[in-house]
Amino acid sequence: MTQPILIAPSILSADFARLGEEVRAIDAAGCDWVHVDVMDGHFVPNISIGPMVVAAIRPHTQKPLDVHLMIAPVDPYIEAFAKAGSDVITVHAEAGPHLDRSLQLIRSAGKKAGVSLTPQTPESAIEYVLDRLDLILVMSVNPGFGGQAFIPAMTQKIARVRAMIGTRPIHLEVDGGVTPANAGACAKAGADVLVAGSAAFRDGRYADNIAAIRKAAQTA
Ligand code: DX5
Ligand code: ZN
Repeated sequence: MTQPILIAPSILSADFARLGEEVRAIDAAGCDWVHVDVMDGHFVPNISIGPMVVAAIRPHTQKPLDVHLMIAPVDPYIEAFAKAGSDVITVHAEAGPHLDRSLQLIRSAGKKAGVSLTPQTPESAIEYVLDRLDLILVMSVNPGFGGQAFIPAMTQKIARVRAMIGTRPIHLEVDGGVTPANAGACAKAGADVLVAGSAAFRDGRYADNIAAIRKAAQTA
């Protein structure tokens, strides 16, 4: 395994009544990034949080806030999420007709630009914007909820995306149903950032859970 593996717990599985405390807890438990799922009840059939919550958790960690925007339209909100303290802002390729413009907006706000592909969207859809990307997120579940099962066919998609990235400095993130049981296969296929919600927050054993996912990925 060449590139270091980064673990990004998704706070969608945290206790929302104690979000600041939970962010400090996963930071202390050894996470590398904090994954923030933003859902609008339109692009996905669920509603989660907005820029105000990103701003509220920002002071609770120095670690990168990896903000996953499952919203459409997305361009009108990029500046607010940037100002709120996001480090990586990821939009969905399916969120609108002007992906290239969205990525330019993110970079012009001084942030890292990511694109996410739902399971049905082929990687060819983003080939034309590779030079505008810092991260590609392969969804391994249908977006909208935590606690779903990993879609096995996504392991091959990760490998195809890794091949498409080539030597570009682009992170390859996998999100949805990641556990110690499949983290190795994801890493072997080429993912270097692993998002985990339910597997990271399970039973309140944050440090053990994060370590188990990291070990499984590193020993693939
Ligand atoms: C789903 C989100 C994921 C989710 C991951 O739409 O993008 O980040 O919270 O949670 P688990 O790991 O439980 O599938
Ligand atoms: Zn996510």
